[in-house]
Amino acid sequence: MNMINRRQFLQITGAGAAGLITGSMTSLLSAGGAGAAEHGSSGFTPDLDVALKATADDISILPGDPTGVWRFQGQLLKGDRASLVNLERSYLGPIIRARTGQKVRIRFTNELADQTIVHWHGLHVPADMDGHPRLVIPGGETYVYEFEIRNRAGTYWYHPHPHGLTGPQVYGGLAGLFLVSDDEEEAAGLPSGEYDIPLVLQDRAFDRNNQLVYLSGHRMEQMNGFLGDWILVNGQPDFILPVATRAYRLRLLNGSNSRIYRLAWKDGGPLTVIGTDGGLLEKPLQRRYVMLGPGERLELWADFSRYPVGSETALVSLPFDGGMMGGGMMGGGGGSVLPNGAEFPVFKVKVNRREESTLTLPQQLSTIKRYDPADAVNREDPKRFHLVMRHMAWTINGRTFQMEQVAPEERVAMNTLEVWEFINEGGGMGMMGGMDMPHPIHLHGMQFQVLQRRGVMHEGYVDEGWKDTVLLMPGERVRVLVRFGDYPGLFLYHCHNLEHEDMGMMRNYLVEATTSDA
Ligand code: C2O
Ligand code: CU
Ligand code: CU
Repeated sequence: MNMINRRQFLQITGAGAAGLITGSMTSLLSAGGAGAAEHGSSGFTPDLDVALKATADDISILPGDPTGVWRFQGQLLKGDRASLVNLERSYLGPIIRARTGQKVRIRFTNELADQTIVHWHGLHVPADMDGHPRLVIPGGETYVYEFEIRNRAGTYWYHPHPHGLTGPQVYGGLAGLFLVSDDEEEAAGLPSGEYDIPLVLQDRAFDRNNQLVYLSGHRMEQMNGFLGDWILVNGQPDFILPVATRAYRLRLLNGSNSRIYRLAWKDGGPLTVIGTDGGLLEKPLQRRYVMLGPGERLELWADFSRYPVGSETALVSLPFDGGMMGGGMMGGGGGSVLPNGAEFPVFKVKVNRREESTLTLPQQLSTIKRYDPADAVNREDPKRFHLVMRHMAWTINGRTFQMEQVAPEERVAMNTLEVWEFINEGGGMGMMGGMDMPHPIHLHGMQFQVLQRRGVMHEGYVDEGWKDTVLLMPGERVRVLVRFGDYPGLFLYHCHNLEHEDMGMMRNYLVEATTSDA
């Protein structure tokens, strides 16, 4: 990847970057694959076996010069052909598709100059399969993932997770979708095949030579997070979705580093929400708009049957108070001309053909068993996590990330239900006024349920259903119910504003197996 700020880029990537830029690295895929087989644990027979590599490439994004990117490339070694789908003309990684109950092996080879590791965002996997930063591998090495899909059907995703480098690596292009299906989802009767459309929303900034521009290295920019002035959908600018006069399932992922979208239809009709991070809701919901923070997913039922052929609409992001530091005086992170909360079109929809379809919006989508707060081990005493700034760094309870460190409130017993409360009310801990920011808080390993939200906005959240990332605008606090099932070990929770994460707004939690579990 070629960046405008070469000095900072070289700092980030080290001397080996020269090899990357000239594209002189040879493929390590076959060597990695062969070595990987030896390390595969005996007795694990995968339904799906994929060789995945992170590598440097050039790809056309804007008219003119191609853009240097980093990207995931996959090769199917075993499994149904449909389980690995490459997006054409996109830096995004292949869409991996699997069914609940399937066993998946992914032999990941790092062809970057930097260390990296891959995290399966939203998937419930053992601690050593989760891509914790302590598991990073250097360039040239392979990490073999083997896990069973225990999640319900849903729109999950994958991206790198090396400490301090997640922001630049995701920004450079390393991200992909991981779609899980199951019988319940199939029975729901939703649009499928070409009518089931993944839409990854990301923002980027380019220099005059079409190369990606990241942060200039100013602390204040990192405190805000990166904001680009180009909105890309599935890696493409000025994205147009051609549709027929019928219903679609739209799966949206906010894969941006720090941009928040306040999504709405341009013509003002309500959004029909059918799913969130952890899959389908029980019943469809109508929302005038939905806030989508980095890392969050949203599934929509979009019916274009009442639109005349030839007509157009758009998904837009409505204006909101983005809570920038310095009262917006910074003009947005990264020197962006498009601050968080600016209004812009996300993508256009063009109705280009007539098609009859008998599909109607199902009134029941899935069954979700609600946790009972009375079953929580700390129901009277939620664990509190204050999202605060300290010594010019975003922290959780005043602490930043230390590789193996676990504080007392970060220990949990396996197979127990807990109430956690995230508090984004500023103040305390030596905060200065006017520095409140949104924080999308993400837990690894588990899907949780939102128990309660208190704050300013009441309409723009979809707190129903299963979540792994929850957005807190300034002044808000959210209580969630989490069950730490199945897997002992060290997992992460963090702000999914990737610049906040990289500066240490991330912590471990430790799931401890009790003797009765062992
Ligand atoms: Cu999507 Cu720890 O991340
Ligand atoms: Cu995650
Ligand atoms: Cu944050």
